[in-house]
Amino acid sequence: MKTLNNILITGGTGFIGGHLIEHLVDRGYRITVLSRSSPITHAKHTQVCFVSSLDGLPETNWYGVINLAGEPLDKSRWTANQKALIIESRLSITSRVNDWIRKLPVPPKVYISGSAIGWYGHWDNECLDEESAHREGFSHQLCNAWETQANQLADVDCRICTTRLGIVLGANGGSLPAMLLPAKLGLGGPIGHGDQWWSWIHVNDTVRCFEMLLDNDLAEGVFNLTAPTPVTQSEFAKTLGHQLKRPSFMPLPGFMAKLMLGEFAEEVLLNGQRVFPKKLMSSGFTFDYANLSSALQDLLCQSQKLRSRLAL
Ligand SMILES: NC(=O)c1ccc[n+]([C@@H]2O[C@H](COP(=O)([O-])OP(=O)(O)OC[C@H]3O[C@@H](n4cnc5c(N)ncnc54)[C@H](OP(=O)(O)O)[C@@H]3O)[C@@H](O)[C@H]2O)c1
Repeated sequence: MKTLNNILITGGTGFIGGHLIEHLVDRGYRITVLSRSSPITHAKHTQVCFVSSLDGLPETNWYGVINLAGEPLDKSRWTANQKALIIESRLSITSRVNDWIRKLPVPPKVYISGSAIGWYGHWDNECLDEESAHREGFSHQLCNAWETQANQLADVDCRICTTRLGIVLGANGGSLPAMLLPAKLGLGGPIGHGDQWWSWIHVNDTVRCFEMLLDNDLAEGVFNLTAPTPVTQSEFAKTLGHQLKRPSFMPLPGFMAKLMLGEFAEEVLLNGQRVFPKKLMSSGFTFDYANLSSALQDLLCQSQKLRSRLAL
């Protein structure tokens, strides 16, 4: 059992946060989830509690803070108001967390902030790592504002790690479930030209990365959280179709994607970036799911089990 083991998580009710909590509880951490809806107890674990405000939390014994909360990017069309909400939802909670950390007599050892590989903007075939430059666009604007806000704690005695998350693949959340129905109907295929790069990561590896960033005293700064084998979108569709034993050559023209989803399609589906996890690899991190076939095989098996359980 760890002695200094309290972790504050924002976004703990979400897809990644939910997996993270299960993983960290198993490793002896006690979790406090800051949530807008505040259930009193966690259905499964006594080591997890939910709060709706930072006021009144104990002032000592915090090992780490993980800040993931924010308005989902795919919730509605990216109007000017929705884009403002996507940014503001992240900045306001980050600002509250920062203020709370500044008031603690002893800061947490480590502060892990969310971000995304959208920080790099749109690229073609260039290989990107943590030292690469960015290109302008809404995704960069959002991620950069979020990272900048987290880094305002640079003068506090606390390790800051920024996680540039790739497309996180899971059986029960993230973008994979939405891809499954068309793929099962044989309607998967290239979106637009299909050559755009999708840098993905299995959710189990994602939470293992967070654990490494918590535990490794030398881990600091920006980390790309992506598997070492990014693929083009058409390769992704082909691999998914192969796993499902379904055809995957039905193209979705770019203009249709834009018509259906607006600017979100332009930023997230039709463009991408070929990102490599250079710092994770040099920290000695090893991926359980380093290639897409093995990740999808595992997740489709999990998805099948989830469906069988629900049918019981
Ligand atoms: N999943 C991915 O592939 C991926 C990739 C790159 C980056 N990310 C980023 O990583 C973070 C976690 O991802 P996720 O997939 O776990 O997200 P998620 O399932 O959408 O969960 C996000 C959490 O943020 C909180 N939230 C939602 N809307 C909010 C709002 N308007 N204001 C304040 N809080 C709000 C919610 O917590 P409460 O309801 O409890 O308050 C929710 O549990 C997100 O910021 C996401 O943008 C995710």
